[in-house]
Amino acid sequence: MSQLSRRAFAQRTLGSILSYSLLQTLVQHDLFADETRPAVVKWLARVNQLGWDLKEQKLSQADWQKTIEELYAKADVDGFLALIDFDKLTKNLELVDTGARSLQFKFPKIDGIPENVAWGKQIFALKQGRSVVPHGHNNMATAFLILKGEFHGRHYDRLEDQTEHFILKPTIDRKFTVGECSTVSDVKDNVHWFKSLSTETAFIFNIHVTGINSENKDPTGRLYVDPAGEKLEGGKLRCRRIDYDEANKLYG
Ligand SMILES: [Fe+2]
Repeated sequence: MSQLSRRAFAQRTLGSILSYSLLQTLVQHDLFADETRPAVVKWLARVNQLGWDLKEQKLSQADWQKTIEELYAKADVDGFLALIDFDKLTKNLELVDTGARSLQFKFPKIDGIPENVAWGKQIFALKQGRSVVPHGHNNMATAFLILKGEFHGRHYDRLEDQTEHFILKPTIDRKFTVGECSTVSDVKDNVHWFKSLSTETAFIFNIHVTGINSENKDPTGRLYVDPAGEKLEGGKLRCRRIDYDEANKLYG
């Protein structure tokens, strides 16, 4: 081997060693993954980060609602259904005759899917004409993303809590189709009510972030309400607080 070719050989070898070692470093630090990761995985990681930002009060409730709605508008619904193996989850699904069936599920353990999730989650499944009945929350923010079907979605600002009533003001009243979303917080659109319009089973992806309001220590559970209230000035409504049974009887 000549001096030149030996040098060339050494350079090539050294080059390949460096490349290999660089490759190992990149793999160890997961630096390739971000580009190759499916969009839905990155989307989910972002939804999770926003949940933590809300819990840690880096983001106001209203800003969380605005940001999550922008992010949800870009959701890849088909990619999400594939990620959670929706077909398997809903195979032989038994629906309920009033209200919504709540389905629990797990995200797959793949690179980029957050393990430490900031929110609770569920999927609502509804027959035609059935509802996620009208209710509000305390110290909780939620987001709905329509996965399948069409809904009549209604939201209300909860302006005042009285002993037996809530003072509500309608804010959203429209049809929602696949990929559309709405949100709830203590400060805006607090009461929600979604009625399925589809002949096919309709599905909603729900996340709920608790512990977001240090000034509101009330339980986060549902506060049922009858939105068919007495009309007050300024478009407000004086609406009865009701219990689970009555909410399901009237609206489920
Ligand atoms: Fe809710």
